Amino acid sequence: MNRRRFLGITGGSAVVACATYYAYSDKSNFVRASLKPDTPVITELTTDERHILFLASLAPSGHNTQPWLIKYMEPLHWIICNDKTKWLTAVDPAQRETILSIGAFIQNLEYAANNLGYRCQFSLLANTNQDEKVMEVKLIRSGNLFRYDTRTIIQRRTVRSNMLSEALKTEDVRLLMANEPDFIRFVPRTTKAYHYLNEQTIEANKIQSYRNAAQKELADWIRFSNKDAEKYRDGLTPGSMEIEGISGWVVRNFYGKTNVMGNSFRDQNIKQAEQQVASSAGWFLITSKDASVKSLIETGQRMQRLFLKVRDKNIAIHPMTQILEEPAIHQNFNSAIGINEPVQFILRTGYVKNYPEPVSLRRPVDWFICP
Ligand SMILES: Cc1cc2nc3c(=O)[nH]c(=O)nc-3n(C[C@H](O)[C@H](O)[C@H](O)COP(=O)(O)O)c2cc1C
Repeated sequence: MNRRRFLGITGGSAVVACATYYAYSDKSNFVRASLKPDTPVITELTTDERHILFLASLAPSGHNTQPWLIKYMEPLHWIICNDKTKWLTAVDPAQRETILSIGAFIQNLEYAANNLGYRCQFSLLANTNQDEKVMEVKLIRSGNLFRYDTRTIIQRRTVRSNMLSEALKTEDVRLLMANEPDFIRFVPRTTKAYHYLNEQTIEANKIQSYRNAAQKELADWIRFSNKDAEKYRDGLTPGSMEIEGISGWVVRNFYGKTNVMGNSFRDQNIKQAEQQVASSAGWFLITSKDASVKSLIETGQRMQRLFLKVRDKNIAIHPMTQILEEPAIHQNFNSAIGINEPVQFILRTGYVKNYPEPVSLRRPVDWFICP
């Protein structure tokens, strides 16, 4: 065999191998629309109960851990529990964000139940952020139907890219803050506080990206491959991190935990945070009265009420919580920003031209019901 023929054969084999590899690779992001309908396993749940819990589970949570469990007592009577296996001990050592996320879950649950004609009777059970039983809820059939368009729950999503810097209209800000002026502040782009929030978010991202425990925790919650995304149905996927095109294909097929611990991934994180804060209309800050479980749950509910209003106005929300998670940055934050109450959410916001579809995954209802 001459050299040219040899190269022709080996070159051809390489092309075939590449084409075969590509054909079997994860060619597109595994997103919510890729999920097949679930087959109900726990049969005692009525259609209403299942639907209410499904909608509740569409709440946001840090790293999409979905830290809730439902203890099923009897029909229409449940205890909402805190799933300690989902805690983010490196970035949320006091489970502050866990309780806020459970608050958002409770808000969705209430809207979904109201829409089906149930009133919710809640009793707080937890004294600390670590207690397993958080809230008892009884759903009571009520004559008064409070219509809530649950499509807003289904369509809500975190948007991290392509935020515009154009100012938010006064009437939009007013609508988003309606009835909550004591606990929600809007920090527009024209203020000194805005620039402080931008700078400190970048600083906190630099610290967190090089804090190994935080980076390892992030690695544990990234579902790079479609196989893992479908298996776990939680965490951050390339789709939810808005990694598309060739970059998406590369991370889906070649990335794993060790890449997250490498310097180039950490530096990319920081670069991305810099790019993100460079474009926005401002920040929403959500405060609470104090740090009690009750206040944190109310704050999670408040955040979710705001979050559910934005899509109709083409406004994106991107929680960026690193300032609150890094003690070296957090310690000066309140005095620098001139706020006395604890800040629980830092949300980057701005208009977007095209609102993307929701893509983050959720576990099926049966997976978060405990006996
Ligand atoms: C308490 C809390 C903290 C969060 N912190 C961040 C954050 O720092 N950066 C970020 O990009 N998203 C953050 N998120 C958004 C979640 O990653 C997001 O809600 C989750 O991945 C599910 O996606 P979805 O909101 O589109 O349904 C946070 C959400 C919550 C509730």
